[in-house]
Amino acid sequence: MQDKDFIGKDIVSIRELSNEEIEHILQTAKKMVDIARGKRVVKPLEGKILGTAFFEPSTRTRLSFESAMLRLGGKCLGFSEATTTSVAKGETLADTVRMLASYSDVIVIRHKYEGAARLAAEFSDKPVINAGDGAGQHPTQTLLDLFTMKEKLGKLEDINVALIGDLKYGRTVHSLAHALAKFNANLYFVAPETLQMPDHIIGPLEEMGAKTQKFNALEEVIESCDVFYMTRIQRERFPDIQEYNKVAGIFRLDARMLERAKKHAIVMHPLPRVNEISPDVDATKHAMYFEQAFNGVPVRMALLLLLLGGEMDA
Ligand code: NCD
Repeated sequence: MQDKDFIGKDIVSIRELSNEEIEHILQTAKKMVDIARGKRVVKPLEGKILGTAFFEPSTRTRLSFESAMLRLGGKCLGFSEATTTSVAKGETLADTVRMLASYSDVIVIRHKYEGAARLAAEFSDKPVINAGDGAGQHPTQTLLDLFTMKEKLGKLEDINVALIGDLKYGRTVHSLAHALAKFNANLYFVAPETLQMPDHIIGPLEEMGAKTQKFNALEEVIESCDVFYMTRIQRERFPDIQEYNKVAGIFRLDARMLERAKKHAIVMHPLPRVNEISPDVDATKHAMYFEQAFNGVPVRMALLLLLLGGEMDA
């Protein structure tokens, strides 16, 4: 696997990346950490432009992509609110994407509809990165999640990972479950029955021979996990607010529960958190979600560098 193999690639779903490609991205990300922290200044992407099209709210994903591009010497343009663009006048996604592709060298898109990033990739002659498509996929979040787990636990193989919360509508866990299965991790799906991991995600996992188990209480897995991956109940994806109210606040991890956890166990969350993690967890050594959010920068730097064919010694 060489850097140049990534040039021009679209990153739409984690399913399309091989283990070798994922490992190459993570290794490249490791070399980016000092630059992401501002300790070293480089400009391999000088003259390149990142175009961002965020049709759904975002804090970390958009800002860490922008930070990544700026840290590598590139520039950014785009929108974080479709209401201020011609989309509000009825422009189609295809036209918006075609236009953005002509103004930039790589596009990052987030949209409320599953499949939007795939469509964008079809209409863009520049590489497209999916920053979340509805309840579909969120591959770059998965890459930074894997990076965090590997850094903290030293490996991905055979680790016990509990994915907790909204496994039905949560795109982060759809991508992450697939990636972890590729690396032979043990997966515990912890959710109320109505929000369990959907069959269309579990099906391919079973075909891969993944080791999965379902639970409906956090207490059942607290002693056996290396990673607690908490997620927010995705209120905006519920067709009926009454249904949301039935499950809101169902799981809440606190410092007392963690007293029974393995010493090295880590608590992760793609953020934003609502009330899934009590603030008293923040001060424990298990809390990894803020470091995880920082890791978005080196991982996205690695991706931008690879897709755009940037040379580090340039
Ligand atoms: C996640 C998302 O947008 O899917 N956020 C993120 O990218 N860090 C998780 C969420 O919104 O719950």
